[in-house]
Amino acid sequence: MKTLIACYSYSGNTLTVAQKLQELINADFTRIEPVKDRWYLIKAIHAYLEKKWPIKPCITDMADYDCLIVCSPVWAGRTTPGVNQYLEELENVSGKKCAVLVTMGGDGNQTATIKIRENLEAQGMEFIDKVTIGGKAQKSGEWEALVQDFSGKFKTE
Ligand SMILES: Cc1cc2nc3c(=O)[nH]c(=O)nc-3n(C[C@H](O)[C@H](O)[C@H](O)COP(=O)(O)O)c2cc1C
Repeated sequence: MKTLIACYSYSGNTLTVAQKLQELINADFTRIEPVKDRWYLIKAIHAYLEKKWPIKPCITDMADYDCLIVCSPVWAGRTTPGVNQYLEELENVSGKKCAVLVTMGGDGNQTATIKIRENLEAQGMEFIDKVTIGGKAQKSGEWEALVQDFSGKFKTE
C-alpha cells in the first residue's frame, strides 16, 4: 500500500509523531504549511470557525497513492485552518484509503478527527483508523506505543 503522510505541525509535536510513523511504514511525507502565521487567539478563533488558510505548495494529488494519513494538532477543539485548506485541495482521492492522526494538549476530544474523517469520506475515501495523542501520552512517552500500534494498519503488502 503506497501511503502519503500529510502533516501540519505548528510547534513540532505532531511532526515528531508523524515522522516516527513515517519511519515505521516507509511512507512518503508532505508538510502542510500555511503561507502566513497568525496570533494565538486568531489561530484558535479561525480553527473554531473552521476557516481555511492559504497553504504553500505540497503533495495534494493522490493519483500515485493508495492511502492518505492526515496529521494535525487540535486547535480550539477543531482541526487547523491549514489542514482545512489541504483537504479542499486534494485530488484523485475517491476510492483510496485514509486515516487521521491528531495531537492535542488535553485528552479525549474527538471533534477534530471526526471532522477530518467526514471530509475525506465525503470525497469518496475509505476510512481505516484514527489515533489521538494527548498531552499525557506525549509527556510519558506512551505516544511511541500508540504510533507503533497505529502503524500496523499501513504495512506495505
Ligand atoms: C491556537 C491553539 C489552540 C489549541 N487548542 C487546543 C484544544 O482545544 N485542545 C487541546 O487539547 N489542545 C489544544 N492546543 C494544544 C495543541 O493541540 C498541542 O500542543 C499539539 O500537540 C500541538 O501540536 P504541534 O506541536 O504539532 O503544533 C492548542 C494549541 C494552539 C497553538
